[in-house]
Amino acid sequence: MIVVPVPLGDRSYDVLVGDGVRHELARVVPASARRVAVVTQPGIGIEVDPGREHRVFEMPDGEASKSLATVEHLCREWAQWGLNRADAVVAVGGGIVTDTAGFAAAVYHRGVPVVHVSTTLLGQIDAAIGGKTGVNIPEGKNLVGAYWQPSAVLCDTEVLATLPPREYRSGLGELAKYHFLGGGDLDALPLDERVAACVAIKAAVVAGDEREGGRRATLNYGHTLGHAIEIAGHHDLRHGEAVAVGLVFAGELAHRLGRIDAERVAEHRRVVGAYDLPSTLPPGLTDDELIELMGRDKKALDGITFVLDGPDGVEQVTGVDRADIEAAIGAVRSEGDRP
Ligand code: GLY
Repeated sequence: MIVVPVPLGDRSYDVLVGDGVRHELARVVPASARRVAVVTQPGIGIEVDPGREHRVFEMPDGEASKSLATVEHLCREWAQWGLNRADAVVAVGGGIVTDTAGFAAAVYHRGVPVVHVSTTLLGQIDAAIGGKTGVNIPEGKNLVGAYWQPSAVLCDTEVLATLPPREYRSGLGELAKYHFLGGGDLDALPLDERVAACVAIKAAVVAGDEREGGRRATLNYGHTLGHAIEIAGHHDLRHGEAVAVGLVFAGELAHRLGRIDAERVAEHRRVVGAYDLPSTLPPGLTDDELIELMGRDKKALDGITFVLDGPDGVEQVTGVDRADIEAAIGAVRSEGDRP
């Protein structure tokens, strides 16, 4: 088992990574908790034992359940059961469950402790770490939420073997991102160490900028174009696959701006290819559509804010010329998709 601390003063906590670490749950649930509300989805199928009185509350499968209606439903069920402030919530699942149950825990009785048992690669290296919780509303994803740090996170690598292959591959897109955030040759490491290395990078970023005043935005490397592809919709690309195309685009754009050399661009393509992830756009997306969608990303403060590699590492960059953006989009088009 590898223990990665997330240092946040009196809200510091540990992330436990390893084969079978879900069995450590009873040890990491806060001692004050008399009762534990376990939140999961039917499709997750991972049983946990918090070591005290507990009840399982299921939210429906699918992204649509990441909603205010689910939060209200959970809070009402917890209240009817008698869960109080000293008790705890345990979220068992991927990002949909940890984001939703984490937000419900943040607002129930003005905040009850939450422990995340993350069951997807994407969740273990990103969503479950760092305290971002929230739900979607029809106007956009994650538009209602709160920062609510968990008391502990369990990243059980044993359960990753049960993930559908596409779900696992989607996690690899986020993993590829960490190569460029100081991770280096992560693919040379065994799985537990690889997950722990990503968690350690995220923990360091979150410890330095919990509320995304600047550095935390670097965790969105590859996401500016990635989100635009996802919002454009009607394409059978998972989040991590869209991020993979976004990483290659970001490398190409940084090169056009003179921030990185051709060898570093090739490294972006090599890493994405090594994880068998796509490096070209789905067909039929126009430059206008993608640029408009990138401008609508909620991280855009002043025109389009890109997150780009450079001599000082990955950082936010504004004021990029449209011609450079179009050229970088062109570099991630497949042969048959050139206008
Ligand atoms: N997923 C990006 C962050 O936690 O800041």
